[in-house]
Order: sequence, then structure tokens, then C-alpha cells
Amino acid sequence: MNGNSDNRYLMLVGKGKPIPADLEITLEEIYGTQLEKNAAFMLRQMFEAAEKDGIQLKLLSGYRSPEYQQEVFDRSVRQRVDSGMSYEEALAETEINVARPYESEHNTGLAADIVTPDDYDVFEEFENTPQFEWLQRNAANYGFILRYPKGRTDITGYIYEPWHYRYVGPYDAQRIENRDITLEEYLSEARE
Ligand code: DAL
Ligand code: ZN
Repeated sequence: MNGNSDNRYLMLVGKGKPIPADLEITLEEIYGTQLEKNAAFMLRQMFEAAEKDGIQLKLLSGYRSPEYQQEVFDRSVRQRVDSGMSYEEALAETEINVARPYESEHNTGLAADIVTPDDYDVFEEFENTPQFEWLQRNAANYGFILRYPKGRTDITGYIYEPWHYRYVGPYDAQRIENRDITLEEYLSEARE
């Protein structure tokens, strides 16, 4: 049996899996945004450890209210239409890039978009940075998993996001990483 179903940090939030209506989160201010209290504590430890290794990480996005998530979604559609896509194309592209309100891990305070200090947006090229390499080696020790790995869109519903880390706690993060599986697969195995 993987993990512990009582572990609220293993909560599955995604397409058709909105945040529970009774979800209570204690948010804490961190690096100009907010994260769930324990996720914030561990993220700070992780950023400080990276700094000691000469790696500077930047928290670009943490907790987002459902209202703000709607804005992010709408902005993505608008930008794609402005760059020449039809509305249908823009919507389809957005659906695999941005979660709908209540269906985003950012609405739980357990997701962190991490970039380099020079970045003010997220880019797939982040995978070629020393920051990403450091996270690949160390994030699980602090309880964070790369939530949308490359080539797993059919399982996660989203494109590869080298910047999006999800706090699940160190025990489960290490097990998920060692097996190179997604949270969806880990949780479905746990139920078997
Ligand atoms: N980009 C991820 C899927 C989100 O919007 O939560
Ligand atoms: Zn994210």
C-alpha cells in the first residue's frame, strides 16, 4: 500500500477533480506569495539548501484563489487569440496548459511554480537550467514532486511543466520519484 489515504498532502486535484468544498487550508506568506503552511516551511528549507549549493530559485506562483485562476485561464485564451489562433484552438490549447478554477493545485496552496531569478513567466526551457537540474536531484527530499512530467499528458491532462512542483511530503515524494510515476498512478496503485 502506497502512502496513507489520510495524508491530506496526497489530495488529487485535476480535471474533473475539483478541490473539496470543505477544504480548509492554513496559508502562510512566503516570498511575496502564499503557500499552505507546511509546504511553505519545506519550500523555504529547499530554497535555502539550493542557495548553499550556489543555486538561486524563485517562487513565481504559489496559492491562487479560484477567481484568480479564472483570470489566468481567460488571459491564456486571450493571448492565444491575439497571437492568431481561432477561439476554438486557443481554448483547446489553454485546456492543456491552465487548469479551470477549483481544479488547479494552485487553489490548494500545495503547488509552487519555480523559475530562475531572471524569469517573470514560465518556459519549457527551464528544463535546461542548473535550477531544474538541482530540483531534479533534491526536490523529493523536501516533499515536492514534478507534477506534470514529459510525455504524461494522457495521464495528468496537462503538458510538460518543468516549473510546477507539488508538495506531497518527503515520504511519498521519494517513493513517487523512485518509481518515476505520476501522482495519479501512485494513488491508483494505493487503492489496489
Ligand atoms: N498550469 C497548471 C495545470 C495549473 O494551472 O494549475
Ligand atoms: Zn503551476
